Amino acid sequence: MAEFRKLELSEALALEPPWRHACHAMLYAPDPGKLFGRIPLRYAVLMQMRFDGRLGFPGGFVDSQDSCLEDGLNRELCEELGEAASAFRVERADYRSSHVSDGRRVVAHFYAKQLELEQLVAVEARAPQAKDHGREVLGLVRVPLYTLRDGVGGLPAFLKNSFIGTAREQLQEALHDLGLLNSASSSSPKT
Ligand code: APR
Ligand code: MG
Repeated sequence: MAEFRKLELSEALALEPPWRHACHAMLYAPDPGKLFGRIPLRYAVLMQMRFDGRLGFPGGFVDSQDSCLEDGLNRELCEELGEAASAFRVERADYRSSHVSDGRRVVAHFYAKQLELEQLVAVEARAPQAKDHGREVLGLVRVPLYTLRDGVGGLPAFLKNSFIGTAREQLQEALHDLGLLNSASSSSPKT
């Protein structure tokens, strides 16, 4: 993590070329479902397997043609997730944090957007038709928010994967700060 530094949005927005801006978003929706009929899923949280074999959030580099960060983000979401992503717009109000990677002159902005479960399921269903499917995006995955009885299966095992940039920290911080984990979902499921 020493490679990455968190900074305020105002400081981040002042970074001009050769710095490049990238935006990524965590899409999530309340999910009343239960795994095996007994373990509450609580929320469906989307990540993706990237072209580099790492897990990350949908999004990407903002172009000079994009009039603002959010225009770039929403364009990237449509490219990576397909048409169902045009049914909503990730806004500045959904912004959460920015990180810089000094060595690479990239500043990455992170957003989290709550959807209806039907919207999120539509994104998953249409994703195979997206422009970047099978190329930059190898597939969408849901994040397991529960921990199984062995204390490892579920979220702890998921977090052992390889993540791009600060995606693991962004995920953990968002799950915590948005209250998507609670004692019921993080404790051992009951039989
Ligand atoms: N936190 C911090 N940085 C991140 C995160 C994250 N969660 N996710 C991605 N990044 C970094 C990546 O390392 C990359 O440098 O942000 C930058 C852009 O993100 P991508 O989603 O990888 O970019 P995208 O525009 O979707 O397309 C990938 O990048 O390397 C090029 O040619 C390659 O066309 C490809 C493009
Ligand atoms: Mg991308």
